[in-house]
Amino acid sequence: MSGLLSQPRVRLATLPTPLRPAPRLSAAAGVEIWLKRDDLTGLGLGGNKVRGLEFLLAEAQQQGCDCLVTGGGPGSNWAMLAALGARNLGMDSVLVCYGDPVPPSGNMQLATMAGAQVRFTGDPDRASVDGAIEEITAELGAEGRRPYPVGRGGATATGALGYLTAGLELAGQLDELELAPAQLWLATGSCGTQAGLWAGAAWQRSGYQVIGVTVSRPVEECVARIGRLGREVADRIGIPAPTCPPCVLGGHIGPGYGRRSPEGDAAAALVARTEGVFLDPIFAAKAMAGLLAANRRGQVTGPVVFLVSGGAPTLFTSD
Ligand SMILES: Cc1ncc(COP(=O)(O)O)c(C=O)c1O
Repeated sequence: MSGLLSQPRVRLATLPTPLRPAPRLSAAAGVEIWLKRDDLTGLGLGGNKVRGLEFLLAEAQQQGCDCLVTGGGPGSNWAMLAALGARNLGMDSVLVCYGDPVPPSGNMQLATMAGAQVRFTGDPDRASVDGAIEEITAELGAEGRRPYPVGRGGATATGALGYLTAGLELAGQLDELELAPAQLWLATGSCGTQAGLWAGAAWQRSGYQVIGVTVSRPVEECVARIGRLGREVADRIGIPAPTCPPCVLGGHIGPGYGRRSPEGDAAAALVARTEGVFLDPIFAAKAMAGLLAANRRGQVTGPVVFLVSGGAPTLFTSD
């Protein structure tokens, strides 16, 4: 076995998450679709980020840290779940948001309820969070705290271990069901989720292509990030680096990152009406729109697995 089992990990998620057929959605779309329900990971309101946090927070614990420092947008699913995960292990958290202060709602409201301290950079540039994380980490260190900084989205090799192990979980479920999907579809933002799945699928020779629909970054930037993170995570646990290029689909960001799109809303409405499953408007709805559009172009071979990645709080807040 690889070095995977020796990686420090804390338990935050309720696993395995269900893998369920979506017969009415499949009939409506004209392709067999299965839903991997990572909206049901079980910390807070669930979501994909819980898996990576199991490895990131274990590392923080191992380093004796007492405070998590991370950030994102004011509506960040990642930041909220990071604050909840930290709280779960008795750690404090400081969350940095880009832009000017806004009244807490949705994810920030939940994070604040869990005791997170929220700060704003005053700069609308998303990258302003990165420098602020470094500054606050230094500030806390000078005060005698033991901060654990993590970049936006938790997209590091450690965080990507979450979806490398999710790939193993999925492989077991597919074996049991004697199901051999041709493709695994998901929403891609900071790229850690796709990197873990990509490296895991190559390692396991899973036979399906991992297709990410970008909801924020340009396709080339995603391909480079996934490639780098995937190779780092493979190296970390001593498995062969993937050789096939990562597959990222563009064209579905809509009016912008963090904003709903009419195409995504229509895709989410179809899934809710046919299967009674909610897709968040910022990530999974746009990925489903990408899958349905590719299917209409004849580019999808079934069966496919679609990752329902969480983000429930944004069902109520995004414009
Ligand atoms: C609900 C949801 N789905 C998908 C993603 C994309 O994951 P990643 O940032 O690892 O690409 C995110 C990221 O925040 C998310 O919150």
